[in-house]
Amino acid sequence: MAILRIARMGHPVLRQVAEPVPPERILDPSTQALIDDMLQTLADYEGAGLAAPQVHVPLRLVVLGLEPASAAPEAEPLVIINPELTFLSQDMLRSYEGCLSVPDLRGAVNRVGHVRLDALDRQGQPFSLELEGFAAIAVQHECDHLDGVLYIDRCDLRTLTFLDELRRFGPLDSHFRKPGSEPDPEPGSEEPGSEPAGGSGDAEPDPTPQARAAGRSAAAAAVPDLSSSSLVMAGGPRAEG
Ligand code: NI
Repeated sequence: MAILRIARMGHPVLRQVAEPVPPERILDPSTQALIDDMLQTLADYEGAGLAAPQVHVPLRLVVLGLEPASAAPEAEPLVIINPELTFLSQDMLRSYEGCLSVPDLRGAVNRVGHVRLDALDRQGQPFSLELEGFAAIAVQHECDHLDGVLYIDRCDLRTLTFLDELRRFGPLDSHFRKPGSEPDPEPGSEEPGSEPAGGSGDAEPDPTPQARAAGRSAAAAAVPDLSSSSLVMAGGPRAEG
């Protein structure tokens, strides 16, 4: 196994649409070696997820941690080949994302909170999973890589922040609205006056239960600080995808 070099923003491989993995080649030693190398690279970088284009291989292959590191540190990452995502909800979750290919930055992205993933596993067998919360965000981030999309393309650019500043000042969302002003019409955006999630260092590892309990309008109030959750993605270990 080998630790692979990660492509950074600006490398064209991150902007191309990746090709499906031919199913008959999934069991090839070269494909299996790539999967093993990606898993090792993910672990070495303490990332939350990794898509093959991030290691200069334009194939539709992702390795993904499904839970924040603090919740399930021993959990094996999921190997996802030729994924298809179906949105199962209109509820949006807003969180600060980071990316191994865009180092040291974080920005707020709204994602669908409930998706179905259909894909092949590393044995070439089809599987289907419904994912919510953190895992739903993570899989959307990684699948975007397969289409040449980076989270900064979906990010509210006003929230884009260096990681050090995010840790110091917290998320910037609260600076954009005065208390009592109208909510942002965009679904899942932050409710006026809601508590900015950052600053405390107490990460909410999974925004879903809180967001769901309170309804869509409070989804942004559940903006995780993310500083110790994995893909959702601000600070500590396994913080980038
Ligand atoms: Ni990424």
